[in-house]
Amino acid sequence: MTDPDVKLPRIIVLTGAGISAESGIRTFRDSGGLWEEHSIMDVATPEGWMRNPALVLDFYNQRRAQLKEVEPNPAHLALVKLEKFFSTSIVTQNVDDLHERAGSSKVLHLHGELLKVRSERFDDLIYTTDQAIHLGDVCEQGAQLRPHIVWFGEDVPMISVAADMVKDADVIIVVGTSLNVYPAAGLLYHAPYGSRKFLIDPSDNPTSNVYRLTHIQENAGKALPVLVDELIGEYFPAALD
Ligand code: APR
Repeated sequence: MTDPDVKLPRIIVLTGAGISAESGIRTFRDSGGLWEEHSIMDVATPEGWMRNPALVLDFYNQRRAQLKEVEPNPAHLALVKLEKFFSTSIVTQNVDDLHERAGSSKVLHLHGELLKVRSERFDDLIYTTDQAIHLGDVCEQGAQLRPHIVWFGEDVPMISVAADMVKDADVIIVVGTSLNVYPAAGLLYHAPYGSRKFLIDPSDNPTSNVYRLTHIQENAGKALPVLVDELIGEYFPAALD
């Protein structure tokens, strides 16, 4: 039981590629990361799509196929536990579906989703698929399908929704993102004064100083379950007995 006068915190979790690393999905900017092997300009910009759409489709087809070989890890599962106790929303830069498969119910994808494709001409014609997409695969209006991914240089349609969620948070947990890419990286500027802010990242992530984050320098699969239990223990001490 909690004291009825105790106000429970609203929690926002901002996740990036690092939370899925222990599931076997490569991050982007670590050593061995995806952007060492592929050119951002070729596979993650509208210009790359115009130049060589087959190459772009192939890149995302491989990523989509890989989803069938990976599973959520203890970090994803810890967030499912968190939402059993607190109002918890996840804002993810990831395009995988591991948060959903773990069982998290409030997940906002800032950079799109691998398991969706859309018409390159009619933005609201969006389809769900776990299959490869090829040149000649078209929407119901006859236009080519493209990955439902936010590329560099494109608008991030959900950013203002995400900013409003951060403005409302009492606890902000950042997991596994280098916070290199705007506007996602700027979300922390909306953190309310006095909110508690954590960063879980094994690297010496310099943004922890910029945003005054309490940096837990560990892998997410190890550190996030511990942090989740600590938060639960603060408000629901009996729950962990
Ligand atoms: N646990 C937690 N963090 C980890 C782990 C782990 N096991 N392994 C690596 N990390 C950290 C790295 O130290 C790094 O700081 O995850 C971070 C990954 O950073 P990036 O590769 O830059 O990924 P991300 O921040 O999600 O990239 C943002 O860039 O290219 C775009 O659209 C793409 O959404 C992506 C965006």
